[in-house]
Amino acid sequence: ISLKEYNTFGIDVNAKRFVSVTSLYQLQQLLKQETAIFLLSGGSNMLLTKDIENLVVHIDMKGVSIDRENHNDVYITANAGENWHEFVLWCVSQGYGGLENLSLIPGNVGTCPIQNIGAYGVEVKDTITKVEAVEIETGKLVSFAAEECEFGYRNSIFKNKAKGKYVLTSVSFQLTKNNHKLNTSYGAIEAELSLKGITNPTIKDISDAVIAIRQSKLPDPKEIGNSGSFFKNPVISKEHFEKLQKKYANIPSYVVSATEVKVPAGWLIEQSGFKGKRFGNYGVHEKQALVLVNYGGASGKEIYELAQQIQHTVKDIFDIPLEIEVNVI
Ligand code: EPU
Repeated sequence: ISLKEYNTFGIDVNAKRFVSVTSLYQLQQLLKQETAIFLLSGGSNMLLTKDIENLVVHIDMKGVSIDRENHNDVYITANAGENWHEFVLWCVSQGYGGLENLSLIPGNVGTCPIQNIGAYGVEVKDTITKVEAVEIETGKLVSFAAEECEFGYRNSIFKNKAKGKYVLTSVSFQLTKNNHKLNTSYGAIEAELSLKGITNPTIKDISDAVIAIRQSKLPDPKEIGNSGSFFKNPVISKEHFEKLQKKYANIPSYVVSATEVKVPAGWLIEQSGFKGKRFGNYGVHEKQALVLVNYGGASGKEIYELAQQIQHTVKDIFDIPLEIEVNVI
C-alpha cells in the first residue's frame, strides 16, 4: 500500500506489507512472529526516501486514563496512538495545565518522548513521569521513569542507546489542576496575548495564542507536506559566536551555558538565501526557513538532496554544521 497518507511530508512510497495495531496484546502477539518491523506512528518526523521492505506496523492504540489525582495535580496516561494535539486540547478543556505551549504539534502521543518535543519555552520532558514500551526482541512490557529517558534538547534515550529496540506504547504525565506554571516568556506569546488585551492568561489563552502563532508561521501538513523543523538549532562555542557577531551584528542567539550559544537554524538558512526558495514541487517554506516543504509529488530523495545543499551552504558561509532533526529513511 502507499504510505502517502501516513507521513505528514506526503511522500508517496510503498509498503510491501502493512498492519495497524490497536492493542498491547495484538502488538505482543505480532512480535512473537516478526521482529524485523518498521514502526510508523503519526509519521510527522520522518522523510521517506524509498519503499519499505519490512512489515510496516502502524501504532494505533487509543485511550486516555486518569491514574490518580489530588488537590493540585492529576496523573494521566495516554496510549501511543492518540493524536498529540487532540490530547493537548482535551487536557486544556479539563483545566489540566502543562501541555498548553505544545498545542498544534503534529504527531502522536507515543512519539513525543523520542525527540522530546518542545516549543515556546516548554519541553514535554517537563511533564512526563513515565514511558511504557514493549521490547521488540522479547515482547516484554518495560517501563522507563522520566529520569531513565535521558531527555535533552530534541533528544532522548530512544534516539540513542534504546533506538530501534522498543515500541513505545503509552506515556504518563503529571499535570496541574491549580497553580499552573504558565510559561509566557516567549516573545511571540507575549505579543499575541497583548494583541488580544489579555493580562492574566488562562491555559486556554496560552493554547489559543500558540495555535495562532503556529498557524501564522508553520505550514499545515494537510495542505503542504512538511515535517516541522527539518534541522536542529545548532549549538556553537562562544568564541565562534562572537566572531560571527562582528560580521552579522543582528545574529539571534540563546545562551546555553557559559561557553556555548544556540543559534536559530532558520536564521542561518534565511541568510544563506534559501528562505521561500522553490524547486519545482518542493522547497523551503516562505515564512520559516527551518521547514522544508513538499508542494505535492516531490520524492524524499529530492528533499533530502535539498537538505544536503542547505547543509553545505550554511557550513561554507558560517562554518556551522547543521544536524538534521527529522528521521531520514
Ligand atoms: N528566524 C529567521 N528566519 C526564519 C526563521 C527564524 O530569521 O526563517 C529567526 C527568528 O527571527 C527568531 C529565531 O530565528 O529570531 C527563532 O525563530 P522561531 O521562534 O520561529 O523558532 P525556531 O528556533 O526557528 C524552534 C523549534 C520549533 C518551535 C519554535 C518555537 C527547533 C529545531 N525548532 O524553532 O519546533 O516551534 O522554536 O518554540 O528547535 C519543530 O521542532 O518541528 C518545531 C517547529
